[in-house]
Amino acid sequence: MKRYMEIRGWLMLFFFACLLVSSFGRELKLMEYKTNSSFVYNHTFAIVMVEYASAVYISDMTALFTWTCSRCHGLTEGFEVVQLVVDVESCLQSYVGVAKDPQAIIIAFRGTRGTSIQNWIEDLFWKQLDLDYPGMAGAKVHSGFYRAYHCTTVRPAILNAVKEAKEAYGDLDIIVTGHSMGGAIAAFCAFDLIVNHNVSNVQVVTFGQPRIGNAAFASYYSKYLPKTIRVTHGHDIVPHLPPYFSMLPRKTYHHFPREVWLQDTSSKSTCLALNHETVCDDSGEDPDCSRSVVGNSIQDHLSYYGVEFPTDDPGTCWIVMDPLLVEYGSTDSEGNVILFKNPATSILGQTADTK
Ligand SMILES: *[C@@H]1O[C@H](CO)[C@@H](O)[C@H](O)[C@H]1NC(C)=O
Ligand SMILES: *[C@@H]1O[C@H](CO)[C@@H](O)[C@H](O)[C@H]1NC(C)=O
Ligand SMILES: *[C@@H]1O[C@H](CO)[C@@H](O)[C@H](O)[C@H]1NC(C)=O
Repeated sequence: MKRYMEIRGWLMLFFFACLLVSSFGRELKLMEYKTNSSFVYNHTFAIVMVEYASAVYISDMTALFTWTCSRCHGLTEGFEVVQLVVDVESCLQSYVGVAKDPQAIIIAFRGTRGTSIQNWIEDLFWKQLDLDYPGMAGAKVHSGFYRAYHCTTVRPAILNAVKEAKEAYGDLDIIVTGHSMGGAIAAFCAFDLIVNHNVSNVQVVTFGQPRIGNAAFASYYSKYLPKTIRVTHGHDIVPHLPPYFSMLPRKTYHHFPREVWLQDTSSKSTCLALNHETVCDDSGEDPDCSRSVVGNSIQDHLSYYGVEFPTDDPGTCWIVMDPLLVEYGSTDSEGNVILFKNPATSILGQTADTK
């Protein structure tokens, strides 16, 4: 009996030790660099950006426009939204605003919500490199992603908001972000700002982004936008698509750098939950990063740095807008909505304060 108590005692001790380690385990981070370039990955910065990239999924336009949504606190506190665009036809949503830390203009894109995520992912397998990027010899991209930015209400609205924000706040850096298809659109937007609008100091942070172009496009992209972080997570399937064919270097899709690959390696035997982050090489297709595993998880696609992205609802693009916002809004004949708040006046900020 005594011996049994002793064993039980040890077991309890072991159990508590495990608990203790696993609760610390959440904090444990392992960073690995696959590169010796001067590139520095800032973990804190990435955590702030994932909050912005997830906020754009919120469909309550009032909460988003007044920055009072569930994601609109903590790390993103004090963000001033300048513009919110909902393109109903293509089911896109994006906002432009000015952040305090990092002090910058932030542009965020939501991915498509018109179809279920399963259907969208199945479609990704078959996307063709069917468009020559204008003015870039040899660069090919997928027309659907390109057109989502270039041929909708999104582009003119964003360019205008960036101009207004720069006039009101000065020549701030610009950070473009998005998750999933929103990441693909973010990349095209940032590239457009640099190549066609002579904007400097543009950074990009995307989460679970699909491939968007070929190797020639990736190489132009990385020349113009070296400050890009393309975050991938575990077995997230989307960064594996459209597929990469290493046997067909001139025909295949090719990611641009720089990938940062997140892995949650929790070990049952040691009770350790380890957040492993790998800063990958500058090829865009580092074989030791997410490409080293099978891309088979939708769950990993919907969670980055512990922030959950909502599953897309099949069906319509909802617009929830309250009458208070009507004076800021304009709706075109197709039903697309643009809300714009002149950054110089910020009347809405004052009414929110007096509530
Ligand atoms: C990395 O460093 C090694 C030695 O320090 C050097 O030989 C190599 O060229 C460097 N690689 C890159 C990509 O800078
Ligand atoms: C990392 O990012 C955070 C948040 O933007 C910023 O406050 C901090 O200064 C950055 N650190 C470095 C070393 O740049
Ligand atoms: C681009 O912007 C820079 C300042 O950032 C300016 O000196 C230059 O003249 C501009 N070039 C064009 C073609 O507008």
